[in-house]
Amino acid sequence: MRFGVMETKNYWVEKLALVLGMLVLAAGVDRAQFPPDFLFGTSTSYYQIEGGYLDDNKGLSNWDVFTHIPGKIKDGSNGDMADDHYHRYMDDIDLMQSLGVNSYRFSISWSRILPRGRFGEVNSEGISFYNKLLDALLLKGIQPFVTLCHYDIPQELEDRYGAWLNSQIQEDFAYYAEICFKEFGEKVKYWGTFNEPNVMIDKGYRFGTYPPSRCSEPYGYCSAGDSDIEPFIAAHNVILSHANAVDIYKNKYQEKQGGSIGIVMSTTWFVPYMDTPIHRMAAKRATAFELAWFLDPIILGAYPPEMVEILGSKLPAFSSNDKLKLRRTMDFIGVNHYTAMYAKDCKFALCNDLSHYESTGYTLRIGFRDGVPIGPTTDMPDFYVTPYGLENIVLQVMERYNNMPMIITENGYAQKSSINLSAKDFVNDEGRIHFLTSYLSSLSSAIRKGADVRGYFIWSIIDNFEWLYGYSLRFGLYHVDYNTMQRTPKLSAKWYSEFLKGGPNITTVVSNMSKPRRLLM
Ligand code: FCB
Repeated sequence: MRFGVMETKNYWVEKLALVLGMLVLAAGVDRAQFPPDFLFGTSTSYYQIEGGYLDDNKGLSNWDVFTHIPGKIKDGSNGDMADDHYHRYMDDIDLMQSLGVNSYRFSISWSRILPRGRFGEVNSEGISFYNKLLDALLLKGIQPFVTLCHYDIPQELEDRYGAWLNSQIQEDFAYYAEICFKEFGEKVKYWGTFNEPNVMIDKGYRFGTYPPSRCSEPYGYCSAGDSDIEPFIAAHNVILSHANAVDIYKNKYQEKQGGSIGIVMSTTWFVPYMDTPIHRMAAKRATAFELAWFLDPIILGAYPPEMVEILGSKLPAFSSNDKLKLRRTMDFIGVNHYTAMYAKDCKFALCNDLSHYESTGYTLRIGFRDGVPIGPTTDMPDFYVTPYGLENIVLQVMERYNNMPMIITENGYAQKSSINLSAKDFVNDEGRIHFLTSYLSSLSSAIRKGADVRGYFIWSIIDNFEWLYGYSLRFGLYHVDYNTMQRTPKLSAKWYSEFLKGGPNITTVVSNMSKPRRLLM
């Protein structure tokens, strides 16, 4: 190829800028800063990638039903096909192998295993699919991390008795969990009972934006629900379902199978809206109402004092039998972390947003102060680039829960998509590389300060169905063309594999790029 003088000059100026940029991005973090046996992987969930929604006797899940209601999903899409991972899992495992990850976090579809919960048969084809997936992963030396419930339940449980609002669900979850331990337990060393129950309950029962769409004003406009009461009942049933599953695993399977079990929580690092005592207290309450709501009962045996003080008897009580179950400690805390937010006090002064009162601890979570965002914005609303948040949240969890082992189960970066864009518009994702390197660097600092962190998973290996945003946001290291289902590596996939090889070997990443281009930042 021939260049004119100016073109050649621009080419090399841009290339040099890119190399320097990559060096700056990668500065301060490399594989050697993490223990040799550290888990490095990628994360997904059943509904977001599998598709095959009625294949091989699968039952309907609550998300199958919800996404088919017009108006629920931004781009009108659903997960019927998603990434067609159900049929392409072998190819996707090849992608993981080429990245060089040693682990993979995914979730089992409850309705694939038990199409009608405990009111019907176990679906042997569902069991066989996950066995094939697990075998293929192990064959390639990739450790599975399996989540039992990533927001989804068999729809039958909603229709029959109101799902999480009814204590019957504890029995259903225990039944399902035990089938999974029995069928897959020899192959699984890491079990997560729930993914982000705090988000599942908040959106399902307080704001009503996720199934089962229950809420009351001013939190949202739903046909039924009570945002001041139901979230606490539903959460209580989740906590006890988790405790049951841990109890069963520890009593009957752990010794024989040698795995570990924990729960995965959504975490936010809350920065006081202003550096004053009332906003500092609001930040503490925000963490209590988001995270300690579940982790305090599970690890310390009681709801957090910050919640008890505000909610009193609205918080359901634990019976002596429940307390016995809660005494069984789990093995690790899964931490999903993306962003910091401001916490604004609404207790001592009135906030404009009326949906942040008692039920959320009189705290408003907000990304902006005086028109300025808390960090660079990303294409996911309310996700900002605030890497210091990861170190801070890890240290906070370490302190509150006596340095229980942690695994960072999700961390990632979104790109906005639309139908007229193609792979080439997404593959040069320096913004994502910058995000991941800066968060990893922050994590390594937390580890140096003594936090017992055992692993880190990027959300996600491939672009996928992003809940209410449908396919309009892309979190993958690999681009997915939803017409052809073709996967194309983004620059971040090359970066991750170089990083895992012991890099960052910037030269390789850069020399693999075909065209000069401008840096994003
Ligand atoms: C988390 C979810 C995960 C994914 C990421 C972007 O809250 O657990 O399924 O959607 O956000």
